[in-house]
Amino acid sequence: MKGRTLLVVSIIFGVALVCGYLVAANVNLLPEVASTRGELMQRLFNSLLGAATVVFVLVEGLLVYSVIRFRRRAGDGGEGVAVHGNTALEVFWTAIPALLVVVIAVYSFRVLSASEAETEKPMVVEVIGRQFSWEFRYPEQGLTSSDLHLPVSEPVRFEITSEDVIHSFWVPNFLAKRDATPGQVSEFAVTPSEIGVFPVRCAELCGPGHAAMVSQVIVETPEEFDAWVERMASLPGNSTEAGRLLFGRYGCTGCHVLADAGANGLIGPSLEGIGTRAGETVAGLDADAYLRQSILEPNVHLVPTYLEKIMPADFATRIPPQELDLLVTYLAGR
Ligand code: CUA
Repeated sequence: MKGRTLLVVSIIFGVALVCGYLVAANVNLLPEVASTRGELMQRLFNSLLGAATVVFVLVEGLLVYSVIRFRRRAGDGGEGVAVHGNTALEVFWTAIPALLVVVIAVYSFRVLSASEAETEKPMVVEVIGRQFSWEFRYPEQGLTSSDLHLPVSEPVRFEITSEDVIHSFWVPNFLAKRDATPGQVSEFAVTPSEIGVFPVRCAELCGPGHAAMVSQVIVETPEEFDAWVERMASLPGNSTEAGRLLFGRYGCTGCHVLADAGANGLIGPSLEGIGTRAGETVAGLDADAYLRQSILEPNVHLVPTYLEKIMPADFATRIPPQELDLLVTYLAGR
């Protein structure tokens, strides 16, 4: 009898180990990982998932076995055997989980320190959250963008803050997230490991436009990054090209549809043919005045069915007058 129980327990334990291994090696609950810290965390996460599977299958297996093995048989009307205390068993089932927790704590701590380790000279990107957009400033390059461009394999340090309420800067593919708190700068370092375009999200409910507070991170080769910096540093002489560029730079592409600028955002009204409509929308305002006011004071002439206070209302402080002129001229020509 005892030998059979031992055999069954061994089988359950073996099955649990196999399940744990299979889950750790094959189940992937995380998005495609695109940073070196993400790779460390993915390994940690998969190990935890595997360990949890072993414990789950073992405990459930023993439970199911006991339910079947010690069930009441037909014709058995007696009391169960009163069992009390088993010191060896209690030491065993206290020591094993305690050991597991210690191993997990040490492993997690090592992953945490490795991913927070400061590299020699990371590039600094200031991340500013506001209702409802992200802005990325590159102090070393002297430029500002609504998309986050990063060179692959080069360490970056984000300095994150907010201009209004608490937001949370989240790049799911980097496995990295940090609160953007007004009046305070929080930091973290990342080394992008994969070339590609990945989403940037806000992970803190920050108002009616929270879901619209999206951007993207473009991880590219160092050459492509330098070319982008050069493109951003100067405006093309051609006013249409300059307007198109500004339309992207100030994040308009994220929320509006405008084929000419490659924009297909659905948060705000489509700007296709806006040049023809702009002059007829509000009595007494010509196209130029309507477009200008709609950029600077977006809540004044709301397009029906679109929500108030979604579009950033601080372009007056962010767009220099010459650039605003170029943007208005560009839109008036669409
Ligand atoms: Cu910002 Cu949610």
